[in-house]
Amino acid sequence: MSEQRRIRVLDPRLANQIAAGEVVERPASVVKELVENAIDAGSSRIEVELEAGGARLIRVRDDGSGIGEDDLPLALSRHATSKIVSLEELEGVASLGFRGEALASISSVSRLELVSNPAEDPTAGWRVVAEGRNMEPRVSPAPHPRGTSVTVRDLFFNTPARRKFLRTEKTEFGHVEEAFRRQALSRYDIGWTLRHNHKTVHQLRPGEDVASRERRIAALLGKAFLEHALHLDLEASGLRLWGWVGLPTHSRAQADQQYFFVNGRVVRDRLVAHAVRQAYRDVLFHGRHPVFVLYLEVDPSVVDVNVHPTKHEVRFRDGRLVHDFLFSSLHRALGEARAGQPGIGPGEETGEGADEISEAGVAPQRAWPSPPDAGSSSPCRCRGERRASGSPSDRVRAFMEGYRNLHPDHEETLLTPQPAAPGAGGTAADLALAERQAAQALQREPLPSRTTPGRRRWAMPWHSCTGSISSPRASVA
Ligand SMILES: Nc1ncnc2c1ncn2[C@@H]1O[C@H](COP(=O)(O)OP(=O)(O)O)[C@@H](O)[C@H]1O
Ligand SMILES: [Mg+2]
Repeated sequence: MSEQRRIRVLDPRLANQIAAGEVVERPASVVKELVENAIDAGSSRIEVELEAGGARLIRVRDDGSGIGEDDLPLALSRHATSKIVSLEELEGVASLGFRGEALASISSVSRLELVSNPAEDPTAGWRVVAEGRNMEPRVSPAPHPRGTSVTVRDLFFNTPARRKFLRTEKTEFGHVEEAFRRQALSRYDIGWTLRHNHKTVHQLRPGEDVASRERRIAALLGKAFLEHALHLDLEASGLRLWGWVGLPTHSRAQADQQYFFVNGRVVRDRLVAHAVRQAYRDVLFHGRHPVFVLYLEVDPSVVDVNVHPTKHEVRFRDGRLVHDFLFSSLHRALGEARAGQPGIGPGEETGEGADEISEAGVAPQRAWPSPPDAGSSSPCRCRGERRASGSPSDRVRAFMEGYRNLHPDHEETLLTPQPAAPGAGGTAADLALAERQAAQALQREPLPSRTTPGRRRWAMPWHSCTGSISSPRASVA
């Protein structure tokens, strides 16, 4: 039998190394944490520099608020943060960080030094490192322009098991570049630089007008992304969704160019992914992935960001509302594009020319059909099968009946012409579009059978949105 061991409090370095297991997986996670701190410090310039994919060196420099000499010893301690002081503050937190453990964790598994100066005087500044098992902070004078530089050398030098998981320099740099891309897409007002092995990989000037934003997107994701994307900006029920969504003709084999931000925070969320997938469901082949850069803005108090240590997931107080808003906004944007409103060329309608802009995989019969005349049978095909029989108007009627049974108090119907849609006003084309959308919704959501009584299925009828949807760019400067 093994000898019984006494319970002891872990020494700080070991406790931090254990915590690092959750948040510090590879150089890219270090970059993410350091850049988040730089953003939270209100920086207008952020420079990321790496050597050997980040395994040898990661340095993040910013011109933000800096840290005063008195606070410096605490910066590298666990559970020490300047960002929240109470549970109430956590509930409405707007900063990217709040857990107060990133620097402590990173510093426990690398050689980390932080140099900072909160004053304009460039001869001022202090340096801090954490030493020994107790991670005692040692502070010494070190001149630095206003702002902060954090240098992380030899990541995982003291945790060989972790170091073994590091991949090649190229792969690790690829992950860092992806982290950088996400951060740079989250803040257009900040100027960014990424350097690897003394070469500049990205240099992005700040700019918040649409042209500057699009220039940045083209630099980070390629011109083709923008040339085949719709710009949208829609608002309803206190939610705003803006950004760029790729036309189905520009889908990809992997889900790589998908960026979703909630209040400036990069998020990979199941609810969001589901809403997007549903919106593209009828227009993309199985196995193809849409591209998008989308920003959701909501009141911080209705979203819980303290769900996951790396804060990639969020929880919405009214997930259904968010889901329906996303789904209906995207569905509508794609539907309007297809109906020929925002500048879809005639070549694409007929299938000609689609090859030029298609990356692959959009089957001609899977492209949107032009709106069917009311009463005629739907030419729409889904995954090679002919869709359910019955004319669109019959199906729309059945859908509306189900909808009204569920929401007897809901006056408006999906057939109401959309006031925000260009050219809306009850024309035959508007009606046909609305009918087609409702028919598609009916196929997607057989309402009466799958809906729990009392649960709102369409929390967000899409005609309650306001905003704009505009056409793909012919070219990007
Ligand atoms: N680049 C920076 N500029 C200014 N202050 C910083 C910077 N990086 C870290 N800090 C300070 O150090 C604290 C600890 O950082 P961190 O361990 O990442 O925890 P958190 O970001 O969760 O507060 C922050 O709360 C902040 O006060
Ligand atoms: Mg932080």
